[in-house]
Amino acid sequence: MKLQEVFDSYKDNIMPTYTKVPLVFVKGKGSRLWDIHNNVYLDLFPGWGVGNLGHCHPKVMQAVRDQISKLIFIPNNYYHIPQAKLAKELVYWTYPAKVFFCNSGAEANEGAIKLSRKFGQGRFEIITFDDSFHGRTLATVTATGQKKYQEGFQPLVEGFKTVKFNDINALKNALTDKTVAIMLELIQGEGGVNVADKDFVLELRKLCDERKMLLIFDEVQTGIGRTGKLFCYQNYGVIPDIMTLAKALGGGLPIGMMVVRKEIADTLQPGTHASTFGGGPVICKAALAVLISIQKEKLLTNAAKMGEYLFAKLNELKNKYPVIKEVRGMGLMAGVELSIPGKAVVEKCMESGLLINCTHDTVLRLMPALNITKKEIDKAVKILGEVLKGI
Ligand SMILES: Cc1ncc(COP(=O)(O)O)c(C=O)c1O
Repeated sequence: MKLQEVFDSYKDNIMPTYTKVPLVFVKGKGSRLWDIHNNVYLDLFPGWGVGNLGHCHPKVMQAVRDQISKLIFIPNNYYHIPQAKLAKELVYWTYPAKVFFCNSGAEANEGAIKLSRKFGQGRFEIITFDDSFHGRTLATVTATGQKKYQEGFQPLVEGFKTVKFNDINALKNALTDKTVAIMLELIQGEGGVNVADKDFVLELRKLCDERKMLLIFDEVQTGIGRTGKLFCYQNYGVIPDIMTLAKALGGGLPIGMMVVRKEIADTLQPGTHASTFGGGPVICKAALAVLISIQKEKLLTNAAKMGEYLFAKLNELKNKYPVIKEVRGMGLMAGVELSIPGKAVVEKCMESGLLINCTHDTVLRLMPALNITKKEIDKAVKILGEVLKGI
C-alpha cells in the first residue's frame, strides 16, 4: 500500500475515534521508528506507555516466536505453563497476592471495581480523583475524573465520587458508610503527570485499614519499571489491596491484570468474572520475557539513572526558556508544563524527528524506553530545545 492508500482506507473503513498524526510506521527497534519513506524517528513516547522495553525487544520476539509454534491459545478452563509461570513471577515481585488476567487497562480496572462491590456486600461507592484516567468502559470512564471523557455517555454508572487529588480533607468529606474503595494513579498520566504526595498515600492506606475499605492503585501507566522501581507503589512503601497493570507488561502485546492481596483474592469465585483471551500462552510468554529482561538487563537501575539525567536536562531547558513553568514526574515519567498549549511543540518536534506527547493541553509528556541511552536523551533534549527556542 502507498501512503495515500493507507490514509484513504483509514478514512473510509475505520471509525474516527482517534486524533491521527499523518505518519505510517513500518519498523521499530529500541527507541527508533521507521516510517513508510524510511525516515527515522527517535521515539520518546513509545506506544503511549506500552514500550518500556522499546520497540521489538529481541527477547520478546523470541518468546512469541517460540510459543506461537507450540500453542497459540488455550481457554481459561484448562491449565497452561506460561500463565502459571507468569503469575508466580508477578506475585514474587509484588506482595502476597493472587492475580487475574485480562487484556487491557480498562478491563483490569473494571475487574477491580467489580471485586470491590462484591467485597463490599452492599457498600458500593468508590472514590476517585480529579484529573484521573482509568479507561473508556462505562464504569471506568465514570471513575475517570475528567468530564470531557464522559460527555454524551450519560447516565453514567452509579456509585462513584471524584474529589481533589492530594487533598485528604476532601477525601474524608466524601466518605460515607457506603464507601468501599479508593482508586488512584500514584502519578496521574493523562491528567498531566501529577505526583501523589507520600503523606497523602500513607493517610489513604490508614483510612482504608480503619474502615475496611480497599485501596486500589491503577499502575497501568506507572508500572513495569516506569518510575525506576518495578512498580510505583514501591517508591511510597505503601502496599495496595489491588494493583491494576496493563500497557508495558506485554512488551507490545495486549495484556491487563489485577494483582489482588491474598486475603481478599477469593472474593471472585467461578462464574463471577472472566475474560476469554485473558492470560493466553503467547501473551504470558511475552510478559515473562519482559520481566526477565528488566532484571537481566538491569533496566530499573538504568531507568533511575537515565531518569535523573533526563530531569537534569529538562531543568536546564526550564532555566533557559521561560515558556516552561514546571518539570515534574519520577524515574522515566516526565511532564513538562508549558505556559502555552503544547500541540505545536509536539508537531515541530515530530518534523525534526522526535516523537513526544502532550497531555492536558499544556503538559509535554516524555516516557522513554527503560533502555534509553544518554546519547538518545541528549539528541531528544537538543531537538526540544531548538523547538522551544523558535516558539
Ligand atoms: C492510568 C491508566 N489507567 C487505565 C488506562 C486504560 O488502559 P487501556 O487503554 O489499556 O484500556 C490508561 C490508559 O492510558 C491509563 O493511563
